[in-house]
Amino acid sequence: MAHDHHGEHTQGQGHEEDHGHKHGHGHGHGQGHGTDLDWNEMAPLLEAQAELFAPLYRQALSWLADEVAEPGLIADAGSGPGVLSCLFAEAFPGARVVAVDGTAPLLDRARARADRLGLADRFDTLAGELPDVLDQLSKPADLLWASRSLHHLGDQRAALTAFGQRLAPGGTLALLEGGLPSRFLPRDLGIGRPGLQARLDALEEEWFTRMRSELPGSVAETEDWPALLTAAGLRYTGTRSFLLDLPAPADDRTRAYVAATLGRLREGFGDALAAEDRDTLDRLLDPADPASVHRRPDVFVLSAYTVHTAARPS
Ligand SMILES: C[S@@+](CC[C@H](N)C(=O)[O-])C[C@H]1O[C@@H](n2cnc3c(N)ncnc32)[C@H](O)[C@@H]1O
Repeated sequence: MAHDHHGEHTQGQGHEEDHGHKHGHGHGHGQGHGTDLDWNEMAPLLEAQAELFAPLYRQALSWLADEVAEPGLIADAGSGPGVLSCLFAEAFPGARVVAVDGTAPLLDRARARADRLGLADRFDTLAGELPDVLDQLSKPADLLWASRSLHHLGDQRAALTAFGQRLAPGGTLALLEGGLPSRFLPRDLGIGRPGLQARLDALEEEWFTRMRSELPGSVAETEDWPALLTAAGLRYTGTRSFLLDLPAPADDRTRAYVAATLGRLREGFGDALAAEDRDTLDRLLDPADPASVHRRPDVFVLSAYTVHTAARPS
């Protein structure tokens, strides 16, 4: 996605230990580029984020439900720990849902979640590299959802074409990419220099560009999603953005998410920040400090995610 990569950037440099799938195979590993992602290590943050964002996703799913009549098979491409896959199973009670991901331990979490929610009889997982793994679906998908996963594939245009080919005639591809950078704090925090989040956004954008350029088979692409969906042989049907608006005062879960996200930014970008901003971040993260996100009264979450849809001609 072009915006809101919160929580995606790596912490530190070169993860040598492989706990599961990482992209960039043989590509920048341990060379200090810092764009390899250890998805398994990110599982708790991915889960916490998707759970916090559930109200936003429910809006998106109810919009999709108006567009897609009674899908039989829904594939969640790049599902991660399956929070959204389970929301799909709940929103579409007549559908079978397949969570697809390259990181097998995340799919274990997805299956455990489906079990807990009583969805297991309509829930499958499929482990492997996107987009090719979609060939192993038992049948073409009526709804293929790809949320913040396409941008981790080197050739996004080719991947979209492959996604489209795994759709049943009349089936829908829904792509969540882009939106706006999230905001957690006022512009002027009362400590440090105003505009800290905008400066962190700028660092994340640079990281994102580097991350994409270091993916295997990376192809530079204009991120005009409607045009790319059309080029993939699909009929573009629409774009909508959905808001997560959790105003201050934040509850403990929201504060924990904000602290985890800012903590990752501190670890990933601490060295690139001006000393004053680094000090501000340290204060924001120190639970003993009344100005920290754990205690200050003005913490909020405001996020926008964008979904693009297209249909395979019948
Ligand atoms: C940012 S997470 C998004 C998770 C979830 N869709 C969401 O929106 O919360 C990206 C997911 O894509 C998966 N992924 C990244 N590259 C992949 C690849 N080449 N093949 C399969 N899965 C991949 C990762 O394992 C991770 O779970």
